Amino acid sequence: MIYNFSQEESQKIIEHFGQAFFEKVLKDIEIYSTKWDLKILQLVDYYSVNCIFICHSQQFGNAILKITNPCREVCTEFNTLREYNGKLFCNVFDADIDNGVILEELIEPGIRLRDEKLIEKRLFVFSHLFNNLHIVSDNPKVYPTYLGWVTRITDYMSKQEDYKELYSFMKKAKDICSSLCEIYCKNLLLHGDFHHDNILLGNNNEYRIIDPKGVIGDPIFDIARFIINEFHDNDKISFEDYRKHIEIITEYFEKSLNVPIDILKKCIFIETTMANCWNVESGEAPDMEGVIYAEAIMNG
Ligand SMILES: Nc1ncnc2c1ncn2[C@@H]1O[C@H](COP(=O)(O)OP(=O)(O)O)[C@@H](O)[C@H]1O
Ligand SMILES: [Mg+2]
Repeated sequence: MIYNFSQEESQKIIEHFGQAFFEKVLKDIEIYSTKWDLKILQLVDYYSVNCIFICHSQQFGNAILKITNPCREVCTEFNTLREYNGKLFCNVFDADIDNGVILEELIEPGIRLRDEKLIEKRLFVFSHLFNNLHIVSDNPKVYPTYLGWVTRITDYMSKQEDYKELYSFMKKAKDICSSLCEIYCKNLLLHGDFHHDNILLGNNNEYRIIDPKGVIGDPIFDIARFIINEFHDNDKISFEDYRKHIEIITEYFEKSLNVPIDILKKCIFIETTMANCWNVESGEAPDMEGVIYAEAIMNG
């Protein structure tokens, strides 16, 4: 056995991803342990769409092995990491894109920005990374565009009979996104999922970035995901508390990122609505209250 799963770990993987995926993981850790000379040390206790292991590679050094089912996101993540080439992002060592597996540099100590208690520090770290980040892609055709994301999910929602209200919000979000793209028209390589769990403390007290989706657009579209994620731990929040918190963040970002507050609020509305439509697409219930709050904030 290459890695001994505890009973709790196997149970969690099977509950979260299903038996077939667990078997893929078992097979993959054998294949890639040989291919990349890996000693698998620990399963990361984080279950979204990947199974993640900390390991040591004789060839590459300390590494993260990320296993998922083959999908376009694996390809765009690999390409984005390659293009950023370790600048603010983790390095990528190798991948088997057709099998949904990536090997990348382990960021140590790897504490998530989510664990930082002071909001000023969180906003400062994000601003510093954001302001030094975005590059022109050498190969933009391999990525979707942000407006393409918005358009695709709007089309999908137009066919969902049970979600007429959410669809009307999404249509509005798409119109706002289209007009923003006329003024904010840079076509840079965006992270696409730039939030607290994808920003990790590395060497010399410097934060590094992981897990890019890779999408082309104006950098303004790489801000709202972080703002929305500030509310990650508040399941139920009153509108007044939401409003106050958004005010604090947008006032800070208006100065630190040089983006006007009303533009930030439009981006929050677009991203919140799109994320809830993605929930519908993956069979989860949308949070309509969140969409209504974001619209009310945008409308002042
Ligand atoms: N390169 C890395 N270095 C250190 N920890 C990592 C690295 N990549 C992932 N992790 C850990 O695994 C968690 C989830 O990884 P991530 O790549 O963001 O996967 P997902 O796509 O499932 O969100 C991160 O929040 C972090 O704790
Ligand atoms: Mg992530």
